[in-house]
Amino acid sequence: MRHAAVLIDGERVAAIERPGAAGDEQLDAAGRCVIPGFVDSHTHLVFAGDRADEFAARMAGRPYAASGIKVTTAATRAASQDELRALAHARRGEGIRAGITHLEVKSGYGLEPEAERRSCEVAAELTDDVTFLGAHALPPEYEERADDYVDLVCGEMLEACRPYSRWIDVFCEEGGFDADQCRTVLEAGRDAGLGLRVHGNQLGLGPGVRLAVEMGAASVDHCTYLSDEDVEALAASDTVATFLPATDFSTRQPYPDARRAIDAGVSVAIATNCNPGSSYTTSMAFCIALAVRDMHMTPEEALSAATTGGARALRRDDVGRLAPGTRADAVVLRAPSYTHLVYRPGVPLVGSTIAKGRVQPIHA
Ligand code: NIG
Repeated sequence: MRHAAVLIDGERVAAIERPGAAGDEQLDAAGRCVIPGFVDSHTHLVFAGDRADEFAARMAGRPYAASGIKVTTAATRAASQDELRALAHARRGEGIRAGITHLEVKSGYGLEPEAERRSCEVAAELTDDVTFLGAHALPPEYEERADDYVDLVCGEMLEACRPYSRWIDVFCEEGGFDADQCRTVLEAGRDAGLGLRVHGNQLGLGPGVRLAVEMGAASVDHCTYLSDEDVEALAASDTVATFLPATDFSTRQPYPDARRAIDAGVSVAIATNCNPGSSYTTSMAFCIALAVRDMHMTPEEALSAATTGGARALRRDDVGRLAPGTRADAVVLRAPSYTHLVYRPGVPLVGSTIAKGRVQPIHA
């Protein structure tokens, strides 16, 4: 819409009107573009340590290996709860400055009951979309004993994390967990009342997408490699395909063929996947630019995937769009149109972030 005003009452949008609408306070966007706040439906914000050396080695030719997760697990286990909290909150602040007004946060770098529990506890301070990801990697003490580890995840670990979590997730990939192990974990999560999410088809074709569809997962994330059967199954399902283009950038992988999926009728989202190994960014604008430049989405499709798409992947209708009754989460861009998110890559175009009706303070 051109020349519009968003009327906010408390934390909610009351109406979308013409300028001049009555209000106690006014924020004049001065002809700039206002978009819904970004909904980042896939992040791993709770971790300690740094893997810049691993990234540099990759840029020099070494392939991405999920075994790097263990490096972060060692650092995360060694950190105190206060350290983890400070790190996660700082990353959340970075995301707010980048226009992310709602997000999902996973555990997955503790990999033992108490370390996973405290990760979920910290995540719950940042969002109500917390995901328990005990089945992220096999910790060193369970080497060669994957089934025993799956028992731990489905038992004591799930029980410890359940009170903080809305979702359960699995890494269904070679180097992660196989389809049977993932199914066992997802069933245990579902029985405990959690919604389902899957990491799948990141490093190659595999069973992740079809397992997600079969189990009725809200989202299957990565989808870098999709067979015709995967696309068909997704198109006939309620499972959102969430693309994580900054991951393919940071791991020098091919980009997913979003055009093919969208044209086949698949519901799609894009998310940052902020994590220390495969995608250390909180910039949704960067993801949008990659989605348009390298995945052949239109700017409208990419913006929608980063807002309403993310909301659908989290099965929510209160965020990701600006309409009467939705949460008053918006971003004022320093630009006349959202196409500038792609047209001016790398430029910080987020002017102000408004979350639950409040302009967010900019901290240094
Ligand atoms: O979504 N693929 C699995 N998990 C993360 C990466 C974790 C890591 O390398 O630390 C992801 O890309």
